[in-house]
Amino acid sequence: MIISGSASQVLAAELAAELDESLASVEYERFPDGELLASAPGFADEGDDHRAVVVASTVSSDAHVELLQLQDAVREWGAEEVVTVLPYMGYARQDDAFERGHPVSARAVARAISSGTDRVLTVNPHEDAVCDFFDVPAESVGAADRLAAPLPSDLADPVFLSPDDGALDIAESVRDAYGAGEVDYFEKTRLSGTEVEMTPSDTDVAGRDVVVTDDIIATGSTMSEAVGILGEKGAGRVFVTCVHPMLAADAYAKLSRAGVEAIYGTDTIERAVSEVSVAPVIAEEL
Ligand code: R5P
Repeated sequence: MIISGSASQVLAAELAAELDESLASVEYERFPDGELLASAPGFADEGDDHRAVVVASTVSSDAHVELLQLQDAVREWGAEEVVTVLPYMGYARQDDAFERGHPVSARAVARAISSGTDRVLTVNPHEDAVCDFFDVPAESVGAADRLAAPLPSDLADPVFLSPDDGALDIAESVRDAYGAGEVDYFEKTRLSGTEVEMTPSDTDVAGRDVVVTDDIIATGSTMSEAVGILGEKGAGRVFVTCVHPMLAADAYAKLSRAGVEAIYGTDTIERAVSEVSVAPVIAEEL
């Protein structure tokens, strides 16, 4: 049976359909003092399969707590196996103690999540090594190749660019799935949480359609800088794709102002641009 966190209801429903499993009824409540109470009252009644698959993108601190509560609730009901699907794993980018005295936040949340599950599955974490932080078997699946589907079929002499060399494999996956095009990357230096400096690649983009691909759009600083540079270099249409469309604060407006043609993301984070479902990729691993 599939149990959904409140931020992953669309994906959980897709996954239930994909696996032909039922979707448990779930309640999300909040007490007057702000504390959460997420519960799965229907878990015991609605299925005879005692594997619980909790699907919850940890997009906020509340979503983290909700996930821990749902894991505990299904154990209370007697679930024999709990599988936790983290379509988007929050805090995954804090995978090191970047300054003396800092926590390794990804490890801290991974340990907490491990305590309520037998297995973890996540999608395109910032670094695959984050899976090692879990105390239970954890694996990542890649969904980048699915990002080619919404792209127009008539891209002009396309170039698939990643904003830095770390996301080059994602750009390659999108290009391979699209079936044609050159692949390259920018050099990126992060100046602060919301500012980046990017050096254009040598690839001539004049008159060509460009697809910029990354694992995540958070503040949109990286992508809007890339789109702006491509505009200055005379690129044709510029599309932006990512696995995790966090689109925090004014990210969407920033990208629109920069001149992006369209933004496509997956449903690991449910936003207006989440045109692509990762359900089939997750279903295959479950
Ligand atoms: C960092 O290396 C990631 O791959 C993304 O490029 C980055 O996190 C995007 O963040 P933002 O949208 O805030 O620039």
